[in-house]
Amino acid sequence: MNSASEAAQPTNDLPPPAGGRAARLAILLSGRGSNMLALAEAVRAGALRGLAEVAVVFSNDPAASGLAAAADLGLPTASLPSKGRKREAFDLEVVDILWGYQPDYVVLAGYMRVLSPAFVRAFAGRIVNIHPADTHQHQGLHAYEWAYDNHLAETKITVHLVDEGLDTGPILAQRVVNLIGADTLAEVQRRGLAVEHVLYAETLAYLLNKTTQR
Ligand code: GAR
Repeated sequence: MNSASEAAQPTNDLPPPAGGRAARLAILLSGRGSNMLALAEAVRAGALRGLAEVAVVFSNDPAASGLAAAADLGLPTASLPSKGRKREAFDLEVVDILWGYQPDYVVLAGYMRVLSPAFVRAFAGRIVNIHPADTHQHQGLHAYEWAYDNHLAETKITVHLVDEGLDTGPILAQRVVNLIGADTLAEVQRRGLAVEHVLYAETLAYLLNKTTQR
């Protein structure tokens, strides 16, 4: 395993998965994990079949229901409580844990933490996030609440690469969610998540097809 000090070094020049092997995904979550479940299903029998495998599902909350759901599917899981920890020291420990699973991509799926520069550099260009709004219009938490409170007629789910800013990385894909007639927050979320669950797997498949030497 690589050490935490090495983790702080840029690794942008990591070779892509070679020989057509499935890319190893480390999926990070903090809560219920509906995106993780959609990705796991896409790996089993959907857009990511043959392209990716789930190397590990990691959470910063050992009690996250998404972690239990991953274990129920037989996926490898790991966790480290972030509560009370300093951001960079915690992140470097997470980097070490993740490196033990040799991921090609780190896939944020409701991972409710701002990543330190050291974490981003450790997996530079290989961290992907899904955000439930257009990242040019809304960053950070509570994007569905923002869309609902502002009576938006539509919002845009965004999948993007992660850089050192908050939701500022290059956009890989966006898809519009029609919110006309969505008169509760639960309905806004229901419509949005339905799009998230399809768009994330499709975008990762596109990315892997583009970057994997086959
Ligand atoms: C999803 O809506 C995801 O887009 C969002 O958290 C939710 C996690 O749900 N992420 C963010 O807001 C990141 N800024 P899930 O645990 O059911 O996948």
